[in-house]
Amino acid sequence: MAPTVTADQFLAAAKHRRTVYGLKSTSAVSDKRVEEIVGQVLSFAPSSYNTQPGRITLVTGEKHKGLWDAIIAAAEPILKGAGEEVWKTMSGIFQAHKGAYGSVVFWDSGDAIKEAGAKHQSAAHMFPQFADHSTGMAQILVWTALELEGLGANLQHLQAIPPVEAVIKQYLDVPADYTLKAHLNYGDLAQPHPEAVPEKLPLSQTLKVVA
Ligand SMILES: Cc1cc2nc3c(=O)[nH]c(=O)nc-3n(C[C@H](O)[C@H](O)[C@H](O)COP(=O)(O)O)c2cc1C
Repeated sequence: MAPTVTADQFLAAAKHRRTVYGLKSTSAVSDKRVEEIVGQVLSFAPSSYNTQPGRITLVTGEKHKGLWDAIIAAAEPILKGAGEEVWKTMSGIFQAHKGAYGSVVFWDSGDAIKEAGAKHQSAAHMFPQFADHSTGMAQILVWTALELEGLGANLQHLQAIPPVEAVIKQYLDVPADYTLKAHLNYGDLAQPHPEAVPEKLPLSQTLKVVA
């Protein structure tokens, strides 16, 4: 089947994605449409040997706010322990995340990774890493698609504070074998969509062509 978009159109779409921190607690894109986008990504994104270790939870509206309340409550004693200044800065950032509309939460299923290793034993040691690659691929697809719909989004990693990950798992009622990989906050833009790509290293340093 011939593709319906060109490579340049695909790259332009990918380039449109930016980290956006200024988000509103509204979404002009319906929950149903966001669910459809996330479902589409799950239906075609790649994984090693097609073992599909990735799982996604979509959280919207008041549940998104409740999730961030739970995160903030769990993080407060830990961050305060790191110093009042740390807490002051981080609580402001967390409140801004709470002020978004929704979260797309990316997990890996530990059971799926184990099963993949049992089925493909010669590569068993690779499946945790393969799962990391696969979730990154799904994350970029969802993030880009949401921004193409006119939303803004930013990617967070609350697993940096393990007790917070435990609280997120509890709040979202996911199986015990899930591991948190990333948390994409999204919502309507409360700032202009940043168009400029942050400065990158020169290709002479990052790309080598062997021909
Ligand atoms: C693997 C990965 C982890 C990231 N983790 C965070 C994060 O925890 N918090 C955050 O605010 N941004 C995070 N970011 C966003 C980056 O800071 C951002 O992508 C980078 O500065 C380039 O900006 P851009 O997203 O607008 O292209 C992460 C991005 C990637 C790819």
